[in-house]
Amino acid sequence: MPLKIPRIIGHRGAAGYAPENTLEGIYTAADMETSWIELDVKLTKDQIPIIFHDDTLERTTNGSGNVADMTFEDIRQLEAGSWFSDSFAGIQIPTLEEAIDAILECNLGLNLEIKPCLGREKETAEVALDILSQIWDDHDRLLISSFSHIAMETALDMAHDWHRGFLLPEEWPENWEDIARYLEISAFHVNGHHCTPEHIKTLLRFEKPILAYTINEPEQAQILQQWGVDGFFSDTPDVISESLLQPH
Ligand code: G3P
Ligand code: MG
Repeated sequence: MPLKIPRIIGHRGAAGYAPENTLEGIYTAADMETSWIELDVKLTKDQIPIIFHDDTLERTTNGSGNVADMTFEDIRQLEAGSWFSDSFAGIQIPTLEEAIDAILECNLGLNLEIKPCLGREKETAEVALDILSQIWDDHDRLLISSFSHIAMETALDMAHDWHRGFLLPEEWPENWEDIARYLEISAFHVNGHHCTPEHIKTLLRFEKPILAYTINEPEQAQILQQWGVDGFFSDTPDVISESLLQPH
């Protein structure tokens, strides 16, 4: 089951053009012929998996407080579009299931980033993967990632055959090679603004695809591509796509 790695992944949908992590973002990415998107998933207080990035509501909704303290009913009262632009006023935070339905409708690949609130790492992965397992069939177009080692270990246990991306933070853990081997990862996801040619050279030895987040500048995409990066998470997938050198 080889991973059909994309060259461009729309970050949080297409976060440069539509509110991040929303159904509108998914449709926007599909409209610009992005073949894959990345979304963040976390749990409400009552364990409903929703597509949302931050631990708190202020930045991207009209609400306030911690997501982990809100029931799904609370979350559904919130408005998640007008912070971005008036033209998106009135849109809601989607559930994981709603997002998957839209992704399947648009025939997109998915990198689902498990983004647990603190202390909820295992249950977030369990709930999200359980739902995915019921509705997602095409496992060569699905990549699970997380900054949380516990969430990744849960993915290894629950869904051993699914592809896992090793999401490396700005500062790599000292034992990153051991972690990569233990998690049997299919791809590396690096911070494209904090990695060096030496970092990429080290990763190339693993002969796994290397993806860089979050790249919105064509010049940076070209530099990383020359170092050996295969694909890019971008808020502006169309801009980055146009700027890439064509493979030989
Ligand atoms: O998964 C790549 C990227 O999304 C990681 O950072 O904070 O945008 O979720 P963040
Ligand atoms: Mg993310």
